[in-house]
Parts: sequence; structure tokens; C-alpha cells
Amino acid sequence: MEQTLTGEFLKVVEQAAIACARSIGHGDRKYSDYLAVEAMRVAMQTIQMNGTIVIGEGERDEAPMLYVGEKLGMGMSFPAIDIAVDPLEGTNLCATGSANAIAVLAASEQGGLLHAPDLYMEKLVVGAAAKGKVHLDAEVGDNLNAIAKALHRKVQDITVVVLERPRHDKLIAEIRKSGARIQLIGDGDLSAAISAAVSGTGIHAVMGIGGAPEGVLSAAALKCLNGEIQGRLKVDINTASREKAESMGVDFERIYKTDDLAPGEHIIFAAAGVTNGNLLKGVRFFGDGVRTSSLILNYSPRRVRFIDTVHMEVGDHITVRF
Ligand code: FBP
Repeated sequence: MEQTLTGEFLKVVEQAAIACARSIGHGDRKYSDYLAVEAMRVAMQTIQMNGTIVIGEGERDEAPMLYVGEKLGMGMSFPAIDIAVDPLEGTNLCATGSANAIAVLAASEQGGLLHAPDLYMEKLVVGAAAKGKVHLDAEVGDNLNAIAKALHRKVQDITVVVLERPRHDKLIAEIRKSGARIQLIGDGDLSAAISAAVSGTGIHAVMGIGGAPEGVLSAAALKCLNGEIQGRLKVDINTASREKAESMGVDFERIYKTDDLAPGEHIIFAAAGVTNGNLLKGVRFFGDGVRTSSLILNYSPRRVRFIDTVHMEVGDHITVRF
């Protein structure tokens, strides 16, 4: 069953990536997102599962498709699956044709993914070598030294990804003081989190505040990749949403670990490149054919698959290039 679903979810992210890639650079991030959402939803409806969106495009009253609680798939007689989606992670990246936009989903048995509210999350992400050797509340410099030691290199040889936001000015200054290098990104801390757990990407950690839903999706990927995320929920200081969130039971003190965010035993994670990135190539259109590059992760059994697909359904005369 899990194998069948893995193949189906691969198709879902491929379809979402192809749909929104048509709008790369068009400057309309909402429309790009709409294309990915619609394609993802259509593809998901044909899967033999009793799926429920637990992280989606918003609550039912604010999102017409892929809203939290929406049922997807072929119905009650099939296995109950919880699904977290980010049909286009990096809407601005797609709209501007910048690197690292991806189409993403994670799935698990019921209860296997934290139903994180649409808040911010303070995050610390590392790969397998530094797992268990860092702490969200430790000094930034101490964490970076621990990561460097775990990777048998100098702290100057570590690269940390940070979202370029004014809220990170202090964090950036502390990282610079430690000697570590920084890659500032405009958007897309989920793609960065995956890269931190894949050796050879040149990224060794992600630090700072990003979206909580992206934190849960990161956890699903990191669990499969032996990496680690620690996260603490945050509200935007300019909003009054803290009280509302607390009344819903959100604990702003708790540090969530990878297994708290993605406790499932049967996790499937799927991502397809939209624009070219560190890990995945973007969608390539060549006349009447399309080529996609995807990453599929399974937790049990642990499998990491990089998949390069040529979609030839549009004609019987396409030449496949190496
Ligand atoms: P979208 O794909 O929804 O545009 O989100 C991109 C993103 O950069 C995430 O990767 C990140 O977690 C979050 O937005 C950061 O939020 P903000 O832009 O409000 O700082």
C-alpha cells in the first residue's frame, strides 16, 4: 500500500510543479500558487485513500481548495491518510523565476503530522552528523561550533541559511561573529532545511523564524533523512493572534523536536522542483514533452529516491535526451 501511495504522491507533486512552472517569472505569485493548488487537488482525487488535509492552504473559510479538514481521494473504504501540503513553496521564487521553488507534500497514517496552526516557528535545522548536538536555546556561536565539530571542520567552513528579514538582524550578527558563513534567502526555508540534511549541498544548518507549516513539512523530510529540526511556535509581533492561538491550546514555550512535529511511522515525503535549485532541477519544457526532477522519501522502510521523469504523454514522436 505504502509503495502504491509513494508512486501516487510522486505524480501529485510532479503535476503541481508542471502546472505552476508555466507561470515562472510572470510576476503573479497568487496565480502561480493557484495553478499548483488546483493541479495538486485534481491529482489527489484519483488516489485510493481516505485522505484528510491537516496542513493546507488555510482554514475552510479562507481557502476554496486544499483547506484544512478537506477530504481527498477515493473515499472511506481506503486507508485513512493525513496529508500536509505546500503546493508551491516559494510563491515569490516562482513569480520571479528565482531558485529553489518546489511543490511539496507529506503524508502519514492518521495523527502522524502535527496539525500546526498557520503561525511562525523559530527553527534550528541540522543534518545527521550534528543531530543531538545542538539546542534551540543555546548560544548561536555554541551551536555553530558544535555543528562544525560534528562535521570535522572549522566553523568558518559552515554555511547557515537564514531568511533575509529584519527580524533576523541580531541572529545574522551573531552568526557573523562566530565566523560561520551565511546564505541569505528571500524565501523557501523548507527547501533549505532539506538541503541541510543532504551532504554535498554546501548547506549545514538553517536558523531563524519561518512558517510553522513549513516546519512540519521539514520535520517529515528530516525524519526520513536522519536530520533534526527543533522549533518553537511564534506569532508575528504585529498581530493580535497570540491570544487566539493560546485559547486553541498552542504552547509558545515548548520546543518541538522532529518526532513531535512528525510522529508518524509511515511517513511519505514528496517534492518536485519548480525552478532550479540546490537539490532539484526545475521543470523543463521541450516543445511537446516535459521533464521533472523530484525527491521521494519514505520512513519505513527508509528510502531516499531522486527521480528524473520525462513526461511523454503528449506525443509518440518525442526523442528522449540523456
Ligand atoms: P510562500 O511559499 O507561502 O510564499 O512562503 C515562502 C516562505 O519564505 C517560507 O519558506 C517561509 O517559511 C515563510 O515564507 C516565511 O514567512 P515570511 O515571508 O512571512 O517571513
